[in-house]
Amino acid sequence: LYSPKPGDLHFTYKGVLYPTVLCCPETFQKLEGFEAREDDVVMVAYPKCGMNWLTFILNEIVFLSAKKPQSPDIPVIEFGTPEKLERINKQPSPRVLTTHLHHDNIPSSFFKNKVKKLVLFRNPKDAAVSYFHFHNNNPKLPSFSSWDEFFQQFISGKVFYGCYFKYMLAWNNYVDDDDVLIVTYEDMKKNLVAGVKQIAEFFGLPLTQEQIQEIADKSTFQNMKANYQETHGQFGQFLFRKGDVGDWKNHFSPAQSREIDAKFKECLGGTNLEAKLKY
Ligand code: A3P
Repeated sequence: LYSPKPGDLHFTYKGVLYPTVLCCPETFQKLEGFEAREDDVVMVAYPKCGMNWLTFILNEIVFLSAKKPQSPDIPVIEFGTPEKLERINKQPSPRVLTTHLHHDNIPSSFFKNKVKKLVLFRNPKDAAVSYFHFHNNNPKLPSFSSWDEFFQQFISGKVFYGCYFKYMLAWNNYVDDDDVLIVTYEDMKKNLVAGVKQIAEFFGLPLTQEQIQEIADKSTFQNMKANYQETHGQFGQFLFRKGDVGDWKNHFSPAQSREIDAKFKECLGGTNLEAKLKY
């Protein structure tokens, strides 16, 4: 097992790069035997696709529908020490569990036990811009000297959690599975009420129209940003940046935009997922 040395900013596990500030190899190894439950409320998303937003919504749905208070633990299963996993193992159902892991590195029990998985995607151009600012604003992560430098690393997959295009492609064979719901950041922005309703119904957690509206009101970008101290502490200051669709237009050169389009076509051209996402 690889042990990062003091001062190492990242380590590699199964060929993918991870930040030592958030993850450790011992937890990854322990995760392989993790037992997911049939009624776990699971979300999968590549970094910067809006995972904290949807985690907030999932917690609210579970709180209102199943009357279960939020757990104090960070629900990202691969973050933190193996002891955190011990605590998650003891949590009552339904648990909200999230992960940034590539499909093939998610513990097998999440598939074997037919656990329902919400899979969240975001336009790769906006995800890249968000990722760049997150690196440069968060002092705990390595920073980049320029957008152009980050762009090169992103498109060649040399970023934490690896190549986003391969990450997306790995879900292509599962888009129509009963236990998978594909949701996009863009659709959630377009109609938050419809998104909350669809997600609650998918997980079989019934809500009234008033409760759906209440969750949608609480989870707008403006409201979540205004309350970040309470909900996310200091980490929130790096998280709620712009919350827009299309900020990539303020960063990408025309050539970079064409390069991402070509990469997307090369990896996802002609697939079910491409038809579903329309990026
Ligand atoms: P930007 O950097 O483009 O603003 P993640 O949670 O996966 O790290 O994703 C972070 C991105 O989600 C950030 O994008 C952040 O602003 C956006 N985000 C967070 N809360 C949001 C909300 N309530 N509505 C819309 N976007 C939100």
